[in-house]
Amino acid sequence: MAAGLGTRMKSKKAKVLHEAGGDTLLNQIIRAALEVAPPENIVAVVGHQAQRVRDSVHVHGIRFAEQAEQKGTGHAVMCARGLADVNDGQLLILNGDGPLLQAATLRKLVDLKVTGAAGGKIVITRLADPTGYGRILRDEHGMVARIVEQKAVTPEQHEIDEISPGLYCFDANYFWQYIGELKADNAAREFYLTDMVEIIARHGYPIAPMFVADVKELLGINTRVELAVADTILRERKARQLMLAGVTIENPASVSIDVDVEVGIDSVIEANVQLRGRTKVGEGCRIGTGSVLRDCEIGDGTVILPYVVAEQSRVGKNASVGPFSRLRLNAEAANGTHIGNFVELKKTRLGEGSKASHLAYLGDAVVGSDVNIGAGTITCNYDGEKKHQTSIGDGVFVGSNSTLVAPLSLETGSFIAAGSVITKNVEADALALGRAQQTDKPGWAKRRRGKE
Ligand code: UD1
Ligand code: CA
Repeated sequence: MAAGLGTRMKSKKAKVLHEAGGDTLLNQIIRAALEVAPPENIVAVVGHQAQRVRDSVHVHGIRFAEQAEQKGTGHAVMCARGLADVNDGQLLILNGDGPLLQAATLRKLVDLKVTGAAGGKIVITRLADPTGYGRILRDEHGMVARIVEQKAVTPEQHEIDEISPGLYCFDANYFWQYIGELKADNAAREFYLTDMVEIIARHGYPIAPMFVADVKELLGINTRVELAVADTILRERKARQLMLAGVTIENPASVSIDVDVEVGIDSVIEANVQLRGRTKVGEGCRIGTGSVLRDCEIGDGTVILPYVVAEQSRVGKNASVGPFSRLRLNAEAANGTHIGNFVELKKTRLGEGSKASHLAYLGDAVVGSDVNIGAGTITCNYDGEKKHQTSIGDGVFVGSNSTLVAPLSLETGSFIAAGSVITKNVEADALALGRAQQTDKPGWAKRRRGKE
């Protein structure tokens, strides 16, 4: 169920679009659901900002039901009837705002066998402060007879600390058979899904409770404070998972790693690193403190020194980048490259073994292998209107402080003298000098001192 507004988020954006652990709340739930059902058996009920919510889902094949007007969680499920009214099996229903749910718990709920006639099973837990949650009322056999919503709890029921975190697994048959009995006869004029528990139990099919002790996993996100709590927990989990898989993480509480990030064994993540999006780090790498990598691929044995900021870029094996370098828009540094401090690569490919050790801007360029880019080299790729390409062949030596005015081609093995402004193509193995001639005046400095 992902149609709600999320008023308590105080946001222009639907609640399920907010992110925790590097993905939206809804995608986090779908991730868990995929462990127990194939995509075509998953239906997301959307309503508030329906199109945006649909577009945000990155799993293909899941289906969407529309709840045009949000008339409660029970109504949300009614809207999915056409897509989910299977006559056999189990109907698993999840709140869209519980991103911490683990697949193993879902699996346990689905696999739980209940003896005798039962209408399904629900997860329950115990909270020191149950305020806001639906309270569990049990029958004389310990089955769940009813869920009482916060707004309806009587003073005696206030003491009940067993709550429903919004995780239901109904017998599909009974659920659809009795859904017509659901009414909006409460203060909020909403169809409460929780009332289905009482309805089905009343027909002689009580609902079995499955107690889950880890309340962290069951947290529903209603405010940004809870969102931050969920984010912290999800990142702790991710770091732990990577560590158990052979990655060293220094000061894990200080790093921020998104769910889909992959890191190979024996890599070391230093403190205060952020690995975002679909970043993949190979084996035996080191990611220096303060570095932020988004959607990047880093090859085995590569060292990212501190404070590198990189997006949508690839670095090969046994390369070295940073400190303080920036890679963006499809930058690619091949195996064994060396990118030093204050070097920016944009839409540029740096060939195998090439070096840009200090202070350079390489934009819209294709650089061959074993090229040396001297300190202060700039590709002038933009003329104020258009972007132009620079091509630098294998083995080229670009002297320090060269200004390469694109479009330009420096052919294989050519040599650019330091301080040159290069505006014309340079042929293979040639020396290009593009600077003012030096004039020396013998004795000038001494004479000047003599005057003082
Ligand atoms: C709900 C439960 C409550 C439980 C709590 C756990 C009901 C009536 N109450 O309360 O028993 O303890 O979750 O977190 O179900 N939604 C829709 N359409 C709607 C209304 C809601 O799709 O018309 C979706 C929301 O987007 C959200 C989920 O259902 O993902 C839960 O809705 P929310 O308003 O957060 O319910 P709670 O008040 O938290
Ligand atoms: Ca909620």
